[in-house]
Amino acid sequence: MLAATELKEGMIVARDVFSNDGTLLIPNRTNLSSNHIIKINVYSVHEIAIFVDESFKGNVIEDPYEKFDREMKLIDTTQEKENTIARSPEFQSFTENYEHQLDIVETQLKEIVHTGRIDGAALYDLVADIITATNTGNLFSFLCRMRSSDDVTFSHSLNVSMLASILGKWLELPVHTTTELAIAGLLHDIGKVKVNQDTLNKAGKLTDEEFAHIKKHTTLGYQLVADSALSLGVKHAILMHHEKMNGAGYPLGLSLDRIHDYAKIISIVDIYDAMTAERPYHKRYHPFHVIRMFEEECYGVLDSTYLEVFLERIAHNFLDDLVMLSDHNQGKIIFVHHRNPSQPIVQLDNGKIVDLQHEDALSIIDFI
Ligand SMILES: [Fe+2]
Repeated sequence: MLAATELKEGMIVARDVFSNDGTLLIPNRTNLSSNHIIKINVYSVHEIAIFVDESFKGNVIEDPYEKFDREMKLIDTTQEKENTIARSPEFQSFTENYEHQLDIVETQLKEIVHTGRIDGAALYDLVADIITATNTGNLFSFLCRMRSSDDVTFSHSLNVSMLASILGKWLELPVHTTTELAIAGLLHDIGKVKVNQDTLNKAGKLTDEEFAHIKKHTTLGYQLVADSALSLGVKHAILMHHEKMNGAGYPLGLSLDRIHDYAKIISIVDIYDAMTAERPYHKRYHPFHVIRMFEEECYGVLDSTYLEVFLERIAHNFLDDLVMLSDHNQGKIIFVHHRNPSQPIVQLDNGKIVDLQHEDALSIIDFI
């Protein structure tokens, strides 16, 4: 055990760290960052179990999904308030169009899997409609408010297609490339149509065997399109969207320079959507929590050039949004820091200005 005052960045936690009221602050095997140490002090935890070098045999927590699941606060969507955006005619129209597109996505993806053929014209028509649907200033707010779909693979594919094309635009890529990214987003998980659906939708933690089975969706998807007329970039995005810059991804364990740029872009929006959208097996997280997770966990894992642009632009998208803070004060986001987009400045209802950059114990937990 070490006193909180003796903690240093890079030390590895040997036991879950809880606050006095039982909230899990830092999971076992976490590599301590400066933010973690601040958190420990803010919550007045006096002693922490730390691995000494020789005794640590396992892997430091590497999976941002898993770590985030345990560390960050869940949004209780069952208590989500009705809000003005959800009642707006724009949202209603977006929802109707989304449901319609979702049906077409499901039909087209299943057809590709079952016939082994891709109807190029139909695919381009669909993608053109998807890109048109992203031309709303409220896309991110709308996507966060969509209800859970039973067909997770298809709604996720539609969302990732939208988000990939948006990120392409933010990166000022040519229209042709943005379109290809939308196609890659639409098809990136097509291999999931071929894996065991019970395992895919399992609510609890997957066994090693089950996870190995789900991982096959990358190669299964690639095999489905390998002989098609799709571009190499789209095919590589399907195969490589779970690869990581540090070589820790799958299926090939590729490192930075061998991962296709389309796959690097898809992997960012893939994670963002998986965490912010409602799913049958987990509740959604507020985008600012997800941005924070990206900042803390994903530099060195995802491509930082693309990640920086994505995080800053998403955060700016929520300017003027009304939010609830973790101390249950409510306010409006009035400024997003360039270097620290997850911790914006919020003006509370009572007029007080709170710069979350200097308030490590405070975070945005919900929309109003
Ligand atoms: Fe995937």
